[in-house]
Amino acid sequence: MLFDNHGRPLRYLRLGVTERCNLRCFYCMPEEGLPWSSKKQLLSYEEMIRLVSILADMGIDKVRITGGEPFVRKDLIPFMSELSQIDGIEKLSITTNGTAPLKHIDAMKAMGVHAVNLSLDSLDKERFHKITRRDEFDQVWEFLQALIKSGIKTKINAVIMEEHNLDDILPMVELTKKEPINVRFIEEMPFNGGAKGYQKINWNYQKILEHITNKYPDIIRLDDHVSSTSYNYKLPEAKGSFGVIPAYSRSICSSCDRIRITPKGELKTCLYQAGGFSFRDFMRAGASDDAIREKFMQFFKNRAKNGFEAEKQKEQNDTFESMATIGG
Ligand code: 5AD
Ligand code: SF4
Repeated sequence: MLFDNHGRPLRYLRLGVTERCNLRCFYCMPEEGLPWSSKKQLLSYEEMIRLVSILADMGIDKVRITGGEPFVRKDLIPFMSELSQIDGIEKLSITTNGTAPLKHIDAMKAMGVHAVNLSLDSLDKERFHKITRRDEFDQVWEFLQALIKSGIKTKINAVIMEEHNLDDILPMVELTKKEPINVRFIEEMPFNGGAKGYQKINWNYQKILEHITNKYPDIIRLDDHVSSTSYNYKLPEAKGSFGVIPAYSRSICSSCDRIRITPKGELKTCLYQAGGFSFRDFMRAGASDDAIREKFMQFFKNRAKNGFEAEKQKEQNDTFESMATIGG
């Protein structure tokens, strides 16, 4: 197994395949989008396969495809299929906004995709429109239904924002009664590509939990997976479960087993770190597999202890980064 300098096992890669997105969630990017990279500036699928193969050899066994919206990139399904066949990759999953054609669900089922995380911040069409600046709620809802029906493990990611979707918290918890899904309420983070300012959040994970407990005092605490980034619960008799992700409070860093490769091929060993070493440039300069492996190791053994330490090393204004360029 692979360990970092703080004794944390590293097993999980989040791979951003594009910065682009067909939605414009205001907590992620400005209305006009981001300064998109050209195709050449992004890792090619071949380059991604090479990096993932090396990491799989080193001990990474779980890969999640993220973005931007992954399905905006051409030929994603054949690429995922290739990834799923890499020796050592046991779990392949994806985070999507659910606007892609439904046929992709069957393809993912066929290649054994482990889980799909759907980014959905509201169950109300109008609120959804306000948050994403696009009128695509109906498609996303249909995608969710088809996903559940397919039997692929389904999670909903809902970023909780005081002025926008507090009224969605309880209905989303309610939804887990009859659907076998895991809804995760996420604290808003300061990565919105300059779309807006960012002050500290009022609705942290504790406040969200309190709000839920006030209505449902008998929620049951579930055992979290050792490296889980959420605290999980369920309602008695519910088919599904729900959780809170302290993405801003950062109370889960001590068990973090994840690394990120951004669409441009930079390694981030923490979400809150500035920049990242360019494995794209390193590969394009002719680095051998051994040199790449050594380089990865160098960064794994110099990982920040937690998101606060990583953030301290940053100079630029946080809000100019976007989750889409970091890789959700
Ligand atoms: N804060 C919290 N979560 C965010 N996401 C995107 N931007 C932010 C932000 N600023 C979420 C998306 C998606 C996941 C990959 O990250 O909603 O579900
Ligand atoms: Fe697109 Fe996801 Fe960002 Fe929304 S949060 S704009 S769906 S990448």
